[in-house]
This record gives sequence, structure tokens and C-alpha cells, in this order.
Amino acid sequence: MNAIITGSNRGIGKAMVEAFAAAGYNVLACARKATPEFEAWLNDTASRNNVQIKPVYFEMSDAESVTSGIKQILDENETVDVLVNNAGISTVGLLSMSKVEDIRKLFEVNYFAMLQIIQKVAKKMARQKKGSIINMGSIAGIEPQPGKIAYGSSKAAVMLMTQCLAKELGPMGIRVNAIAPGPIETEMIHQYNDEMLAKLASESALRRLGKREEIAQVALFLASEQASYINGEIIKVDGGR
Ligand SMILES: NC(=O)c1ccc[n+]([C@@H]2O[C@H](COP(=O)([O-])OP(=O)(O)OC[C@H]3O[C@@H](n4cnc5c(N)ncnc54)[C@H](OP(=O)(O)O)[C@@H]3O)[C@@H](O)[C@H]2O)c1
Repeated sequence: MNAIITGSNRGIGKAMVEAFAAAGYNVLACARKATPEFEAWLNDTASRNNVQIKPVYFEMSDAESVTSGIKQILDENETVDVLVNNAGISTVGLLSMSKVEDIRKLFEVNYFAMLQIIQKVAKKMARQKKGSIINMGSIAGIEPQPGKIAYGSSKAAVMLMTQCLAKELGPMGIRVNAIAPGPIETEMIHQYNDEMLAKLASESALRRLGKREEIAQVALFLASEQASYINGEIIKVDGGR
């Protein structure tokens, strides 16, 4: 079983590589740029779990780079069973302080690159008559908040795209689902100060932030045969906000 995971070099994506490798998947680990640490970690993870893990490098704000990275994957792998669209960027900014151009750039990564990847990978999955696509949404795309026009709107678009595609691709045997995490302990939330992090933790009924592994395990479930009748769902993973 082959799984593509974007944003695999850190944060939630890194935990996903660990989880999928431990479950026996061969992983196409997508990242922006090669580093010796990343490649050493991939080799170590592959040998610990007795699977193949191959890095694939492309820049998601550059459509040509995305095209060549995904082409490499599709040319080199006869089948692709799972696509996890995890990579994303987050910004906070009130309307009066936001440049439309910057919002456009965020959408290029969070929305358009994801759509581009799905368009290409879904063709192979359609030929296989089977596949599972998991998109990373966010509670920011469900709960309106000041300062989240760019990030929140991009994630809302991702989640509606997920549900539209579930209906379009379902007849071809492809399931499309999204995960909507609450605040998870990764570098992404380091834009907030300690007071804000404590507030975010207190908003969860479990009174804590989520762990990257807690998102990775949900992706693993959605990819698996145990989730074979789950399609078009947005799974909130937020400790009960
Ligand atoms: N953490 C949270 O609280 C939270 C909550 C809800 C949803 N999410 C979503 O979960 C996903 C993963 O978030 P995270 O917390 O793991 O974030 P993170 O630690 O900031 O990691 C983001 C990942 O996306 C990659 N990426 C960003 N821009 C890219 C680009 N232009 N081209 C290629 N790769 C790019 C990063 O690569 P580089 O290392 O090269 O930058 C990195 O691997 C995101 O979609 C995020 O929106 C996170």
C-alpha cells in the first residue's frame, strides 16, 4: 500500500509518516526541500518499520513544481492507495491589516495546490477504482474568528471541496474525507503567546491542546478498510470544544 503525505518533514505530517510506516504503508514523503536530517530520519523510519519511504520535493506555491513532483510519484508508482493533503500555512490578520495579494498566496498553498494534487492523483485512483483522500481542514474553517479571514476561509474552502469531491469521486470507488483539528502542539501555533495557548487549551473540554499523533491516528483510520463506508465526512478532532 502506497501513501502520499504532504508536509511530511515536521508537525502533524511527520507524525503521519511515523503512523503510516508503523501500519505497513510505503510512504511518498513530500516536502519543500531536502535536508540531511530529513533524509536520515526517513531512512531510519523506513528501516525500523521495514517499509519503503521515498522523499519527493516540491514547492506548493509553485504550480509547475507541484506538477513535476506529483508526476514523479505517479510515474514511479504503479498504484497510489492513499493521499494525505496535510501541508498548509496559517496567518492571523484583521481585514484592515491584510493584503489581498498575501491572502491569494495563502490560498495557492492551502487550497489550489491541494486541488491540483487531487486532480492528478484521482485519475490514477479512478483507474484503480479505489483510493482514499484525506484533506487537512481546521476548526478555523468552521468557527468564524476575527483575524482568520485568510486561513479560516481557505480551510472552509478545503472542507467544502472535500464534500463536493466525495460526491464526484465516490462512484469511482474513491473516498474523500477531511480532518478538522482544533489547536495541536506544533510549530504552527507558536505564533501565539503563552496566554493565548492557555486560552486555546481551556476552550477544549479536555483542557489541553491536541498532540500531532492524535491527528495522525485519525488519518490512518480514514485511510483504512475500517473506514470503508466513510465518505464526505469532516471529522473534528478538538477534544470537545
Ligand atoms: N497545528 C494546529 O493547531 C492545526 C490546527 C488545525 C489544522 N492544522 C492543519 O494541519 C496541517 C499541518 O499543520 P502543522 O501544525 O503540522 O503545521 P507546521 O508544523 O507549520 O507544518 C506545516 C507543513 O506544511 C509544509 N508547507 C508549508 N508551506 C508549504 C509550501 N509552500 N510547499 C510545501 N510544503 C509547505 C511545511 O514545510 P516547511 O517545513 O518547508 O515549511 C510543513 O511541513 C496544516 O494544513 C494546518 O493548517 C493545524
